[in-house]
Parts: sequence; structure tokens; C-alpha cells
Amino acid sequence: MGAAKAAVEPEEGRAAKRQRLDKDRQKLPVWSARERLVELVRENQVLVVIGETGSGKTTQIPRFLYDAGLAKGGAIACTQPRRVAAVTVAQRVAEEMGTELGSKVGYSIRFEDRSSASTRIKYLTDGMLLREALVDPELHRYKVVVLDEAHERTVATDVLFGLLKGVCLRRPTDFRLVVMSATLDAAAFSRYFGGAMAAYVQGRQFPVQVMYTAAPEDSYLDAAIATSLQVHCDEGPGDVLVFLTGQEEIESCERLIAEAAAALPPDPDRPALLVLPIYAALPPEQQLKVFQPAPPNTRKVILSTNIAETSITIAGVRYVVDTGFVKSRSYSPRLGADCLQVTPVSQAQARQRSGRAGREAPGKAFRLYTEASFTQLAPTTLPEIQRTNLASVVLQLKALGVPDVLGFDFMDPPPRAALLRSLELLLALGALDSRGDLTQPVGTQLSRLPVEPMYGKVLLASGEMGCSVEALAVVAMISTDVVFHLPRGKREEAAEAHQRFMVREGDHLTLLAVYRSYCEVSRRERVHWCRSHFVNPRAMRKALDIHKQLQDHLQALGVVLKSCGDDMRPLRRALVAGLFPHAAKRQLDGTYKVISSGQAVAIHPSSVLHGRKPECIVFNELVRTTRQYARDAVVVEPSWLPELAPAYFARSAANQPNGGAT
Ligand code: CDP
Ligand code: MG
Repeated sequence: MGAAKAAVEPEEGRAAKRQRLDKDRQKLPVWSARERLVELVRENQVLVVIGETGSGKTTQIPRFLYDAGLAKGGAIACTQPRRVAAVTVAQRVAEEMGTELGSKVGYSIRFEDRSSASTRIKYLTDGMLLREALVDPELHRYKVVVLDEAHERTVATDVLFGLLKGVCLRRPTDFRLVVMSATLDAAAFSRYFGGAMAAYVQGRQFPVQVMYTAAPEDSYLDAAIATSLQVHCDEGPGDVLVFLTGQEEIESCERLIAEAAAALPPDPDRPALLVLPIYAALPPEQQLKVFQPAPPNTRKVILSTNIAETSITIAGVRYVVDTGFVKSRSYSPRLGADCLQVTPVSQAQARQRSGRAGREAPGKAFRLYTEASFTQLAPTTLPEIQRTNLASVVLQLKALGVPDVLGFDFMDPPPRAALLRSLELLLALGALDSRGDLTQPVGTQLSRLPVEPMYGKVLLASGEMGCSVEALAVVAMISTDVVFHLPRGKREEAAEAHQRFMVREGDHLTLLAVYRSYCEVSRRERVHWCRSHFVNPRAMRKALDIHKQLQDHLQALGVVLKSCGDDMRPLRRALVAGLFPHAAKRQLDGTYKVISSGQAVAIHPSSVLHGRKPECIVFNELVRTTRQYARDAVVVEPSWLPELAPAYFARSAANQPNGGAT
């Protein structure tokens, strides 16, 4: 069936395409519920909608509300925890409505706004809506806010729950809130909103046969590749969806599967194999490729991060391969830092992943772990607010005029210790005063900058230290995707090409060197330059874009733009002014200790400082693999720490290596 569609695609005119899309919409489970849903939204200020993933909630419900006139005099916002979902869904809805993306239907994600004054249905990340609330706490431009994927319970969604509850009280007649979730747990949402009405959309779910491995796998990657090929050779028609943990893993898997498939003994009955990746950093036009039906006589194998778990639905999937892992960010109050970590999924996630095989017909799910290990998984995933760094959120709440964040109406309050830690960090950064009030102008300025408060502080300090031009470039390079490209088979050649950018004093300065070199190349030469230097061109374009936006922000805040030329001392000092909570000192035995927490760390092998042993560094983040690593580090002078963050380090010295109260 996919084959026929693909074959007519090129000749299919606009009108014909819309007709086909219209037909597809009408087959979705939410279609038959549309009148009831619109009615319920009219009659209830808050409505909870529960429906199976893929039933059409995200693409259809905002449009139903729009078509029914519920956006009159304003717009509809639909939040997504994931950028990929916001982009691909907006694209799809614009196509379904036959409008240009960015006009009636648009999206807005950090550093990328494809919406305009005429946008009536706007898909945006939950983080973006939170930022909009800073400027307009009543969210006057929206008549309806749809909090989608509420079951994901991201920090931003959890905070929005609290804020929107307030908006509902203050705009009783002209504001509607719709909370949408894929899990059956409507009660918690409903209870939080004072017994809100819940509506269930009847989904279709076919049986999925779940298979486990007999023994634990040594490498889930190898197992995923082998299983995908086995499905390809032995199973009937249908696409394969493989859950992996991140971009690098997906890229290497993509090559390995393609190689292995090419090496299979020829079989005229076997379809061709098309491997397609999907992850957040993939450019939008490539993201959309996974949604296109496979060409005739071809089987798609989609390699996805957990984006495809609930946020996006890809038609045609009959087989799911679940590695059982997910990459997640978590905050360790003990370390006082966020860690990016590969962790086992919860049972609920495993079920959700398997379910993706049974949307259109009976399917099969291959779990690459034993049945015994499944029973040991946590039943559900902990809401993110319980496990991440809350500094940014606390700062935004303060900026929104919420004085008592410990008493904020959270659906599931985060641990008090984590909130206290964030308050301490913000105090140390000078964003809050000792009473916990937002400082002027620093606190307000930091809340406006779309980067973590520590980086925001680097930018503000750089203005005073005469190196804001460089600091902007560094923060833009940190905020973009992976810059250095290390293709398989050419690793040495690439490493050698990268060598010329390396600056002994650290990774931040190395990134700056790449940025500067790139900017010196003429526009026409840039792609070629990137190729010959093994630099990711997309990451560079994005860095330039982020740079421009951050620069606009800084100018709006009145920060002086000034360059420090070739003297990198001011820049390193500015980095200390923001990153001092992530300072580490060399110990007598040559290992490192984070000064604020006492945690032992090693310099990450990817760092230019790896193998060198500077006395003192500050770093961007901790990564935990086999051990605890500091990633992206820069050499600093130990005396700068008490000089640039006196209160913080005076106290540390007094209480042993411990950055704050416990
Ligand atoms: O939100 P929910 O999971 O209920 O469903 P949805 O995301 O609205 O998806 C409804 C349908 O639209 C699915 O069949 C998707 O495959 C399709 N879709 C698509 O083909 N292309 C997109 N970019 C987005 C959705
Ligand atoms: Mg959805």
C-alpha cells in the first residue's frame, strides 16, 4: 500500500494531495470524536483528553478547535516536550490545511521561530511557552492552550501546569486549557485541576507479540543490528522501528545495518532495505523523510531516539526493536550538577514502545533483554522535575513573580534539597539576593537570556571584562550540535584536521578557534571548508544563527560588545565568573575533584586537556559512562575562583570541599 502512494507522489498535484490527507485524517480515531471534543472544550474551561499514541490528538485537536472558532480573536498554542515533534507536526498540519508553514500554522522552538502575527495554530516546545509567559504572564495572545504529551511530565510542562492554573482563574471566560496525555492516568491531571472533566478517545490497538532474549545481551547495539536484519530476512511486510539512545549511536548503527544488508546473500524475494534516522539534531527536511511511505518493494528501518515512543507516530511500523535504554538528563543534588546518562527504560516506556508495532495491524516487539530484567525495571518513569537541575526553572518562576518557589503549586513537588540547591546556585550567580528576591539588573537579565543561568552569567561577565564578542561565540558553539565530525574509516585523517584548531588552554578556546576560522571563510567556500576540516556544516550554520540571537539579546540588555583580540585571559576569567560551580582541582595523585561537591572526576577523553594535568579547570558538564567525566573544560588560575566568586569559595573553604548546605 505504501508502494502505490510513493509511486504517485511526484505527479500528485496539490489538490489531490490535500484530498488524500483529508481522507487520512478522517480515518483517525479522534475524527469521530471531534464534535464531542469541541463541545466539551466549549463547556469546560479545563479538559483532559486521553488517547492512544497515534490516534490524532496532536495533529487534529488544535485544528478542530480552530475550525470551531475557539481561537477567535487570538491563537491556539499546542506545547510539545520535544523540538522534533513541534517541527514535524506543524509541517504536517500546515500541509493538511494547505497553508505555508509559518503563516496560519507555525512553530517555535528555542533559537528557531517559524511563526508570525498571522499564526493561529502554533506548535511550540513547552520551554518556549514558559519563556512567552515571562513576557506576557496572562498569555493574552492565546485563547486556548493545549498542553500536549502531559504524561511526559517534563519540567517545563510541570511548571506550566501551575502557571496555567493561575491563568484559568484570572481569565475565566476567554481562556481554555486542554491537557492531552497518552496514558490512562487521567485522575492525577483531573484532580490537580480541581476535578476537571476527562474525555477518552477510543483508540485502535492490535495485539503485539512481545519477545525477549533468552540471555542478557553483551551489546544492545550489536543485538539491535542483528535483530533488525533478522526481521528483514524472516518476517512479512512492515517497517521496523528501532529505539536507540542518541545521535552517535544512531549514526553508527545506520552504517552497520546498511553494510550488513549489502552483504546478505542475494534473495529475489527479499525487499530492499532503507535505513532512516530520526533524532533532534537532524535537519527538519531529513526528519520529514521518515514519514514518507517506503518506495515499492522496500522495507524501512527507522532508527530513533525515544522521540518515537510517544511524540511522533510513523505509519507502516509492524516491528519494534527495543534496546531497553534511553538517554536522559538527570540532576544529582550530591554532585550539584546535571549528568547525561544512558539509563534503563521503565516498564511503562517498554510497553509504550512495543505498542508502536500494533497501530495498523498485529505486530511484533523484540525486547533486547530478558523477561526477568523487564520485571526489575521501575514501573514508571520519575517526572523530570524530580531529577533535574532546577536553576533555570526557579529563576523563571522568580521572574514571573512567584516569590515562594518552595511553596509553588507543583503537581509533584521536586525534592526540597534540589530546590534549595538551585536557590543557592542562583544566589552564588548573583541572580537572587539573600532574601531570595530577583536582583536588578542581573537576575532579570539572566532570566531573559535563553541559556542556562551559568552560561548567561558568562555572557554578562564578558561584557564587563571586555570579551563579549568571544564569549558570545563560545556560548553559541556550546549550544549548537556536535561540531567535530569523526567519520568511521577516516578518524585519523579527521583528528589530524581538527588538530589545527586545538588550543592548549581548553575546549572553549578550541571551539572559538573553529568559529573564528569559519567566519573568515567566504560564504561560498564554507561547505567545502567544513568538508576538508571535518567540521559539521549544519552545526556551524546553527551556531551562527544562535550567535545572532544571543547577540540581539545582549544588545537589548545593554551589554557592551567588545573583543579581547588574541588575549584569552579575559575570556577564561569570564568563563570562571559563570562556571565556577563547576570548578575542579587537581589532587596530589593527579585525579580531579569538583571543589563544590568533592566529587572525583576525570577529564573527558575528547577534551584537549585530556592527558595534560592543569592545576585547576572549570567545565561545562558531567558525563557519566564507566566513570565520571568533565566534558568541555578550560584551564583557569586557582586564584581567580575566590576573586570572581568570593562568597561561594569563602564558604567552601570554611566547610570543607562542600559548596553549600545539604
Ligand atoms: O498525537 P497523537 O499521537 O494522538 O497522533 P498524531 O501525532 O496527531 O498522529 C496522527 C497521524 O498523523 C499518525 O497516523 C501519523 O503517522 C500522522 N503524521 C504524519 O504522517 N506525519 C507527520 N509529520 C505527523 C503525523
Ligand atoms: Mg501526540
